[in-house]
Amino acid sequence: MKQKVLESFAEHFGGEGDIRTYFAPGRVNLIGEHTDYNGGHVFPCALTIGTYMAARKREDRKLRFYSMNFEHLGVIESSLDDFKMGKEGNWTAYPKGMIWTFIKKGYPVEQGMDVVIYGNIPNGSGLSSSASVEVVTGVMLRDLFGYDQLTNTDLALFGQYSENNYNGVNCGIMDQFAVAMGKKDCAIFLDTSDLSYEYAPVKLENARIVIASSNKKRGLGDSKYNERRSECETALAELQKVSNIGSLGELTVEAFEEIQSAIQDPVRVKRARHAVAENQRTIEAVKALKANDIKTFGELMNASHVSLRDDYEVTGIELDTLVEEAWKCPGVIGSRMTGAGFGGCTVSIVENDAIDNFIEKVGAAYKEKIGYAADFYVVDIGPGAGVLE
Ligand code: GLA
Repeated sequence: MKQKVLESFAEHFGGEGDIRTYFAPGRVNLIGEHTDYNGGHVFPCALTIGTYMAARKREDRKLRFYSMNFEHLGVIESSLDDFKMGKEGNWTAYPKGMIWTFIKKGYPVEQGMDVVIYGNIPNGSGLSSSASVEVVTGVMLRDLFGYDQLTNTDLALFGQYSENNYNGVNCGIMDQFAVAMGKKDCAIFLDTSDLSYEYAPVKLENARIVIASSNKKRGLGDSKYNERRSECETALAELQKVSNIGSLGELTVEAFEEIQSAIQDPVRVKRARHAVAENQRTIEAVKALKANDIKTFGELMNASHVSLRDDYEVTGIELDTLVEEAWKCPGVIGSRMTGAGFGGCTVSIVENDAIDNFIEKVGAAYKEKIGYAADFYVVDIGPGAGVLE
């Protein structure tokens, strides 16, 4: 892959000089959905698929970008004097947002660069292709401009800042953190209230992680993501009138039930209930995984989906069909939607000898009901972002 990106770089920008290469993965969240902006826990892992980047510093202030995924767009040229706050209208809004963030945070970028990227994460599938581009850009800027004092956690925070302030999506920290901090064969148990984290080995023995992409396109910006976030904020403010809490993640389900009547709107009660219960489920799920109780882990995944469907209402017919068909298949340990929802992907844990049947049955039922095909990926957990040697 690295070779291919370097060849494309040579073709578009010439092969001379100091050309560096970088990688950042995509991610899948095993459990803990819509908890990261509510001070709760998440449990994502980095994938072996992701974004490759080749880059070379320039002497002037020009920025030249080429994506092997959007060949028809050709080389897109702009400059360090031309930030459009997410109005680029194409993929360069992500790397440009990251450059803008570096400058804003006090890490000057005074020289332009030539950049080629190639990604093998299906775009807009909910596997964090945008966080992957943000973080790989961060790794590149740190390397090219010698900002070695920046940690991968810093780059994750910069990525989130960029997404929030340059691209206008009010996302939490989960995606950028998973992409920057992933570890092979481990998921990250992250407490989003203080960014403390722990790596938990995912030893599935007889099973694999299978991702099903609904192929329903969505962008977070035009989804109801920001709306859910503000519903939770309003619910929290109502609860704070009767309780001394800083976030929904501080509540157990029992404590929530005692004070939930402070929330004035039944829809907001459901939203907050999901955030509280999902956080508790995530804590339970990690306990179960550590005890090698994969069955309980799977049951909690299923319960997560039900809560996202009924209380948080972010699933939709496509994701529900994929998950409900998965539940019918033998050898499925757990299945749920993953990521923001409203389209995107599901994640399932499926026993090895049941995978072929799973893909065939769920795929056929999906096509029959929805009218177009889903795509299936049996994935591996890989390391986080870094320089390619
Ligand atoms: C998107 C956001 C994350 C997180 C998930 C839902 O992926 O980028 O911050 O909120 O949705 O869990």
